[in-house]
Amino acid sequence: MSQPLTPPPLSLYVHIPWCVRKCPYCDFNSHEGRGELPFAAYVDALLADLDHDLPLVWGRTVQTVFFGGGTPSLMPPDFIDRFLQGASSRLRFAPACEITLETNPGTAEHGRFDGYRNAGVNRLSFGIQSFDDGCLQRLGRIHDSREAETAVKLARDAGFDNFNLDLMYALPGQDLAMAAHDLERAFALQPTHISHYQLTLEPNTVFAARPPAGIPDDDLGWDMQEHCQAMLAGAGYAQYEVSAYARPDRQCAHNLNYWTYGDYLGIGAGAHGKLTLGHDGSILRRWKHKHPTRYLADAGTPAGIGGDEQVEPARRPFEFMLNALRLVDGFALALFEKRTGLPAAAIQPQLDEAVSRGWLRIDAGHVRPTALGRRFANDVIGLFLAD
Ligand SMILES: C[S@@+](CC[C@H](N)C(=O)[O-])C[C@H]1O[C@@H](n2cnc3c(N)ncnc32)[C@H](O)[C@@H]1O
Ligand code: SF4
Repeated sequence: MSQPLTPPPLSLYVHIPWCVRKCPYCDFNSHEGRGELPFAAYVDALLADLDHDLPLVWGRTVQTVFFGGGTPSLMPPDFIDRFLQGASSRLRFAPACEITLETNPGTAEHGRFDGYRNAGVNRLSFGIQSFDDGCLQRLGRIHDSREAETAVKLARDAGFDNFNLDLMYALPGQDLAMAAHDLERAFALQPTHISHYQLTLEPNTVFAARPPAGIPDDDLGWDMQEHCQAMLAGAGYAQYEVSAYARPDRQCAHNLNYWTYGDYLGIGAGAHGKLTLGHDGSILRRWKHKHPTRYLADAGTPAGIGGDEQVEPARRPFEFMLNALRLVDGFALALFEKRTGLPAAAIQPQLDEAVSRGWLRIDAGHVRPTALGRRFANDVIGLFLAD
């Protein structure tokens, strides 16, 4: 039996499962939306889903909200507004609650950003991927680079000063100079945050089945990463996670809560949640059915739950490390104890092993991955898997 746990900060993740077109590299739960999408019914389903989960978070305050997808910016502002009004009447939102909405530049249109702002959204995350039109085409994107820049400018005119740009590198047909040029174009738009992902071939995607020609090899991918990291640092974006870079005090609070093994309610098709039930020291993972049609039919009833799973104490060190070791600054052992309910002594042998291999450094109770540890992250995390 575990010790009672103090519940950590709580976030709310809301999944919007539709896109204009499915990108060939993408394995997110996103479906090509055909015809009129049932947004009104979807907001009803989201609120019913939230009502059903409420007893798990009674009395707690939501620190961050993230509309992810899919393409949340397909949803007109009125629906986002109705959802946020409904959610904030059911749950207490912190006064400085960060509310982010993922935006595909191909869905930007005049007036939309004012609507999101009025609804309470205070941060945007743009899926830019590249500013090279050839790369964008090969990635199957629905927008070109000019539309991407226009979308960001429209958002800025509507008063959004806190926004992230998602870029990918190691793209088909891309060389080092092109990856660097993408960053230059991004800097010119003055985002507060940049997410810089290496393209991966995910199982069950079109790219995995038929890899496109011209994907940079590992050496070139590595050179791109090193070169771009230096450019980001030079432009004032400090790396704080494997793929995340931010201006001072502009880290994504929502993602930081995941990476520090915080709690989150996950609502919407296929959404995952993780909740600490403080009184009995248990940690629950819950997920919802993935397919939008099934979700719309069952949300808010027991049939809408895709699954529930207890995170047994033996698994917590692995889950904690899977998240916290993504952080450049690592974590305090005191945080490990607070989040998992386990004494730091429970992972001392694994920590010793990682230190002796040069993967981690421990100083005054603070654990940091070394450059080597970041490179062999999977091996480091693997040490913490229960037998
Ligand atoms: C869920 S997507 C949300 C953004 C939005 N749907 C869009 O694409 O405009 C989040 C980000 O993950 C990144 N991503 C998606 N698939 C990836 C892959 N196979 N490899 C690397 N990054 C990927 C992209 O940068 C994407 O913007
Ligand atoms: S728009 Fe984003 S979520 Fe949708 S398919 Fe493309 S990468 Fe995936």
